[in-house]
Parts: sequence; C-alpha cells; structure tokens
Amino acid sequence: MLSFEAYKVLHIVGALMAVSGLIAVSMFSWVNSGANAAHPARKLAAATHGFGLLIILIAGFGMLARLQIPTNQPWIAGKLGIWLVLGGMVALARRMPKRAPLIWLATFILAGLAAALAIYKP
Ligand code: HEM
Repeated sequence: MLSFEAYKVLHIVGALMAVSGLIAVSMFSWVNSGANAAHPARKLAAATHGFGLLIILIAGFGMLARLQIPTNQPWIAGKLGIWLVLGGMVALARRMPKRAPLIWLATFILAGLAAALAIYKP
C-alpha cells in the first residue's frame, strides 16, 4: 500500500489524464467529423482517458483506505457517479462530434464538482 500523499498525487494525475484525454477525443472527433477513428492521435487520446479513469479509481479507494473513511458517504457516491459519467462521455464525444463545446463545458463542470466533493465532503 502507498502513502496517502502518493495516492493523492496519483489521483490528481489520473484526473488530469481523464479530463485531457476526453477533451482530446472530443476535439479530434469534431475536427474529423467522426471519421478517421483509427488515427493514432485518437487512439492515444482514448487510451489516456481510459488509463486516467483507472488510476483515479485505484488511487481514490487507496486514499479512502488510508483515511479510514467508510465508503457509504454521500460525497463518495457523488464522486463515483461523476466517474461513471466521465467514462460514458467518451462514447458521446465519438458519436456526437458537433456536441464538442457542450462536452467541453460538462467535462470541466464535472471535474470541478468532483474536486469540490472531496474538499467539502457534504
Ligand atoms: C472513483 C471515484 C472517486 C473516489 C473514490 C475519489 C476519492 C477521493 C478522495 C478520498 C480524495 C481525498 C480527500 C481528502 O483529501 O480528504 C479525493 C481528492 C480529490 N479528487 Fe477524487 N475521487 C473519485 C473521483 C474523482 C474524479 C472523477 C475527479 C476529477 C476528475 C477527482 C478529483 C479529485 C481532486 C482534484 C482531489 C483533490 C482535492 C483536494 O485537494 O483535497 N476525483 N478523491
């Protein structure tokens, strides 16, 4: 098991990867109108998003174990919900390339909410 601080650094790196990967997939699809899906740039963006989500999950539960916080808190349910939505949004980014500005906005609102949930712990 890693220290709380190490999990937190990983968690934040994972969040940066998930957010930047999602924005990159969305912008790529918008520019290419959904075509050219096999391009390595799109694959790298999608892999960054997926790997980032995995790191968020592992490091998030690592922190909870370190802090000895029970997992049935409302703010944790909220974070898990945001994590799921961020995961699903990559499919929207691919299927609705012209919705990129909306996906862009929703991504930053959700990431901000996830950070606020951890800071205020409602
Ligand atoms: C799987 C769901 C998640 C779990 C279980 C989780 C859990 C946690 C925990 C336990 C903390 C530390 C709280 C503390 O310091 O007392 C934290 C902090 C943080 N989380 Fe998450 N998180 C999740 C998803 C996310 C997502 C999706 C994002 C953003 C995309 C995110 C962004 C952050 C940030 C920025 C912090 C640092 C806040 C601070 O400075 O204290 N988390 N998270």
